Amino acid sequence: MKRRELLAALAAGAMTQVSTGQAQESPAKYTNEIALPKPKVSGTVSLEDAIQRRRSVRRFRSDPLPVETIGQLLWAGQGITSPDGKRAAPSAGALYALELYMVTAAEVMHYVPQGHRAQTRATPDMRPRLQALALGQASVGAAPALIVVAADPGRLTQRYGARASVYSDLEAGHAAQNLLLQAVALGLVAVPVGAVDGPQAAQALGLPSGQSVVYVIPVGLPV
Ligand SMILES: Cc1cc2nc3c(=O)[nH]c(=O)nc-3n(C[C@H](O)[C@H](O)[C@H](O)COP(=O)(O)O)c2cc1C
Repeated sequence: MKRRELLAALAAGAMTQVSTGQAQESPAKYTNEIALPKPKVSGTVSLEDAIQRRRSVRRFRSDPLPVETIGQLLWAGQGITSPDGKRAAPSAGALYALELYMVTAAEVMHYVPQGHRAQTRATPDMRPRLQALALGQASVGAAPALIVVAADPGRLTQRYGARASVYSDLEAGHAAQNLLLQAVALGLVAVPVGAVDGPQAAQALGLPSGQSVVYVIPVGLPV
């Protein structure tokens, strides 16, 4: 689908994004766990420079991302940055409604902020399926890695009632912006894709019940 057609489809309501999805009853099991390399807390690109340079870019080189880069991106989104467990992105009531996943050609990773770890499982290439669930957007199929931002608004309903899904979407926006700026600082390019069928994508990835995909962020080296 061309970009103009995509925008027309969105305007016509082809994609109704809902935050409260039903992922499948029995979530996919991870078979391995890895400790991610310690994240860097200083770099060579200033925050101002990263803000100035951030652009949505939809074409990528096919080079896979090294594990240091994957770990750094996940840390920027949801890493623990304080001894009391608080994280890189703000969270309503510090209830942490988000889960981050990294999808590559060969595996799905689930980020575990505690201990900066990832649960992994080998999979067939999930990118074409996610591309189909994102109105066929080429960026989703083309990137060497997709960061999936999923939210479970149910974690917020007891405290925030009807505001829960708004708050979990806002939290996803905060985490996504961190990820996008971190990508710039690492010399990568990315685009936040919101036009994705969140419940279906959650199902395709075998996410636990209650989680829905809010954003898919294709990321890679620039062409
Ligand atoms: C909520 C949201 C949803 C978006 N969804 C998509 C999308 O589905 N596909 C896409 O290519 N870009 C998407 N974008 C990126 C916008 O197209 C992009 O931010 C806008 O064109 C401005 O360009 P810039 O990001 O380079 O500043 C989305 C951005 C936001 C904030």
